Amino acid sequence: MSKGRESGMPEADYWDSFFNPSCILSRLDCTGIHGDILEFGCGYGTFTIPAAKANSGKVIALDIEPDMVTATARKAREAGLPNVKAERRDFMESDCGIPAGTCQYAMLFNILHIERPVELLKFSFAALATGGKVGIIHWRSDIKTPRGPSPDIRPSAEQCRVWGEQAGLNFVRYESLCCCSWHWGLVMSRPALLA
Ligand SMILES: C[S@@+](CC[C@H](N)C(=O)[O-])C[C@H]1O[C@@H](n2cnc3c(N)ncnc32)[C@H](O)[C@@H]1O
Repeated sequence: MSKGRESGMPEADYWDSFFNPSCILSRLDCTGIHGDILEFGCGYGTFTIPAAKANSGKVIALDIEPDMVTATARKAREAGLPNVKAERRDFMESDCGIPAGTCQYAMLFNILHIERPVELLKFSFAALATGGKVGIIHWRSDIKTPRGPSPDIRPSAEQCRVWGEQAGLNFVRYESLCCCSWHWGLVMSRPALLA
């Protein structure tokens, strides 16, 4: 088991109070997608449930913590969302069980402070179809925030862009998240293979 460092969660209502998930998903191009969406570290399903409502494909929500998987699956059931597949999995230990090139979007929300971010971005790359996108958010370092990992491991958007490029992804844009001002946003994509 290799749960990422500093990735424990506070109480659910407190965590959810930090986000406007629908706004974040919309600003990061995670709406109207027909193919599968892969979420690395779904936590309480804060973004899983809105993503399943905003897209017609399946949302494959992975988390190492059984309680998080149970909470996310329960929320999906209660919301009548059959397109959520919440699964217990250590995404740093395997290929995530996702066939290569099958997803249209990967959500990396509040997770790239873990020990091996480039590896996780490579898993995202492998799971994505050509043209598929990766949405990344994290806590800002330039202001005081009520939560978030320690300053020495908190990545900037620019750092995540470099890591993403090392994993083979293309930069699409930085996105300011006026609806969640403690966070920054970044969109990257899987390029077409060169002939
Ligand atoms: C800080 S939380 C963010 C949750 C969610 N992405 C959000 O923003 O609401 C990070 C989540 O990643 C999960 N996690 C950490 N390391 C993991 C691993 N190696 N495999 C699967 N899940 C992991 C934790 O259990 C936790 O639920």
